[in-house]
Amino acid sequence: MIKLDRDEAARAILTRNDRGGYTVPTDRLYPFQWNWDSAFVAMGFATFDVDRAYRELERLIEGQWDDGMIPHIVFHAPSDTYFPGPEVWGTRHRIATSGITQPPVFGMALRHVHEAAVEAGLPNAAERTRNLFQAALRSHRWWLRARDPDGLGLVAILHPWESGSDNSPAWDAALARVPTSTTTAIRRKDTGHVDAAMRPRDEDYQRFIHLVDTYRECGWDPQRQWAVAPFKIADVQMTAILARATADLIHLAEDFGWEAERAELSEMHDRLTAGLARRWRSHLSRFVSLDLVSGEDVEAPTQACFMPLVALRIDDAQRQAVQAEIERWHEGMVVGLPSTAPFSPAFEPKRYWRGPVWAVVNWLIADGLRMNGLENLAQRIEQTTVRAIERAGFCEYFDPTTGEGLGGDTFSWTAAAYLVLGRRAKASASGARR
Ligand code: DGY
Repeated sequence: MIKLDRDEAARAILTRNDRGGYTVPTDRLYPFQWNWDSAFVAMGFATFDVDRAYRELERLIEGQWDDGMIPHIVFHAPSDTYFPGPEVWGTRHRIATSGITQPPVFGMALRHVHEAAVEAGLPNAAERTRNLFQAALRSHRWWLRARDPDGLGLVAILHPWESGSDNSPAWDAALARVPTSTTTAIRRKDTGHVDAAMRPRDEDYQRFIHLVDTYRECGWDPQRQWAVAPFKIADVQMTAILARATADLIHLAEDFGWEAERAELSEMHDRLTAGLARRWRSHLSRFVSLDLVSGEDVEAPTQACFMPLVALRIDDAQRQAVQAEIERWHEGMVVGLPSTAPFSPAFEPKRYWRGPVWAVVNWLIADGLRMNGLENLAQRIEQTTVRAIERAGFCEYFDPTTGEGLGGDTFSWTAAAYLVLGRRAKASASGARR
């Protein structure tokens, strides 16, 4: 057997998980196209095949709804290895999709892919970027209209799956208010692929599906859903990613001279960054989400609390506080950043979003640290992520206490993270040697 070097192995995973212009996160466990996975994957493809990177984004927006929402799953082709499939969602788009969304990394990916295309001299890049830019703009308008109707400057999630951090302790209090009754029969497939101890619990799934049933009964109408939602959290991670993606779209609009779009996006950006800035809590050294049902701050210490750094310029006092807090989360860990602080009673180092380290989270957090002048910490996080993948493989997530690889393997977004962060780690190591 020919032994591949790590970069080749990462590229081979993306190629193997390609199902015809879109990439599944991993075989069997996630057999369709997922929204934020594909945005990261597009940035991974951009390191060696920019045309394919555009295709990833183009295939994702085949699933975009008329109202602008980009769904969290596009069911391009049938598979019986995943629950809940299209029949449970019961949506009416021309291609089967889920009825909820996911973090809008899309705009960040578009700028990244566009810049790689310009560098590579790819023909038609401007045309392709323009089409995808319009799709992104429609989706950002949807976010503000459907998920911030009261103008808080924060966008809300109506389902934990939208956050991408499904069973995070951040949702525990709010999810406990959601009934466990469902009209849909629950037939989990995930625990047939991955150890149940690394996945959400059955009770979580009952509540997840209760929410799907509730919103399906609203005909997936955003206003009706907003009115009845038993779970509604103005999420700092989602808002930060949306604000950052908005900044990246502004950058593209400036490059192309699209003045009306630039002005509209700047207004969105001001609204979102003002909303985010109000969520800083100095006594916690973190940003906190807002539970719109109870009116309470979400104080659970999770990775989301640092995500605003990708969108905001923080001041010196905040910078020092964040640095000390992130160092504290690393104490005694083999790999950081844990998705839940190890000092939290909710910390479970192997269970999905209750402790494990995620390469794409580290990618965003490192970006945010660098943007805020914390270069050394950014490099440390990037380098440890790369080393964790080299030791344990391209796993879905990693146990922070041991470095063990967990969840699905040959994972697309971990491969993409390796391609992007590996280059950065090499560049910073050679910079340090010079
Ligand atoms: C899952 O099925 O675990 C996904 O995270 C939901 O999109």
